[in-house]
Amino acid sequence: MDRLFVNLGKNSYDILFADSFSWLSDALKEINAPKKLLVVTDSNVKKLYADEVNSILQENGYDSTVCVFDAGEENKKMDTVLGICKSCLEHKMDRKSMIIALGGGVVGDMAGFAAAMFMRGIDFIQIPTTLLSQSDSSVGGKTGIDFMENKNILGAFHQPKLVYINVGTLKTLPKEQFISGMGEVIKHGIIRDSEFFDYLEQNSSNIKKLDDKTLINMDKINCSIKAEVVEQDEKENGLRAILNFGHTIGHAVESAYNFEMTHGECVGLGMIGASYIAQKRDMIDIADLQRIERILTEYGFKTRVKLPDKEKISEFMQNDKKKTMGRLKFVLPSAIGEVVQTTNVGQTEIFDALEYISEQEKSI
Ligand code: GLY
Repeated sequence: MDRLFVNLGKNSYDILFADSFSWLSDALKEINAPKKLLVVTDSNVKKLYADEVNSILQENGYDSTVCVFDAGEENKKMDTVLGICKSCLEHKMDRKSMIIALGGGVVGDMAGFAAAMFMRGIDFIQIPTTLLSQSDSSVGGKTGIDFMENKNILGAFHQPKLVYINVGTLKTLPKEQFISGMGEVIKHGIIRDSEFFDYLEQNSSNIKKLDDKTLINMDKINCSIKAEVVEQDEKENGLRAILNFGHTIGHAVESAYNFEMTHGECVGLGMIGASYIAQKRDMIDIADLQRIERILTEYGFKTRVKLPDKEKISEFMQNDKKKTMGRLKFVLPSAIGEVVQTTNVGQTEIFDALEYISEQEKSI
């Protein structure tokens, strides 16, 4: 089993990388997990992994029970979090008890938020089962819910005690969800690590075949990039915002499509849009822009989509919570492996970027 230490002082923890749940009970012993545990999962993951995980826990003497809510972003709301808290009370949990988030990003965000609130904060661990959660949301301690049509607008920073990544769970992940997760993985290469970008280019066949060893290696490098950024700026006062590369345009496209396109796919388009702006500013050359588009194509992303009119997208962008003094924040690449943050991207540049990622009607 591989591991990575996330150094956050008293909030430090390990990320473990495995191809099964075989090491879970050892991992829990290592962190001195309490006996009383609540496994929080959704209706999709319940069918796949909740019984296996809960049996491991019970066989190892833990007093665990499973709390299930209906899968879907539309359930990422306060009522669901309160439902989790109700399960904590029904299971007679106290300040020393622990929540286990078993599932994708929605599960991790809500279980983590419930853990941050219940009795003013109890411990939790993450067992992410999607590539998006294994590569991004389970690491870094962001928890929360959507509210009044604003994504992740209520929440708390609450670091897990452990992240247990079993890449075996990626075998049951729908293909579009795997592609979505690759969006964040590729993003980490572009913002911070050109060698990792090369690795993703050179190992696409094994990654797409879901070869366990390659996936563990990829996840480990990927998480080390995210962890290194979070270690320097846990509460997003500066550097951590580079993780939002591709998200300014990406979130707007996601909203315009009423969340029918996956998050990663929209981030992919957002990364192309931001890279186009950078290329027009001569910050990167055309070859870099083409490399970024090529790798996204290689992993199955759409690089052009039909977009509603630009004013509408622009309106969605203005609603983005990631603004500074009312100005949109953009992260632009200055090379593959390096980005800069700026608030001075003009409307014309944004519109040109949207035009660039728009699928043009073909005349016959
Ligand atoms: N997903 C961006 C972050 O964790 O900051």
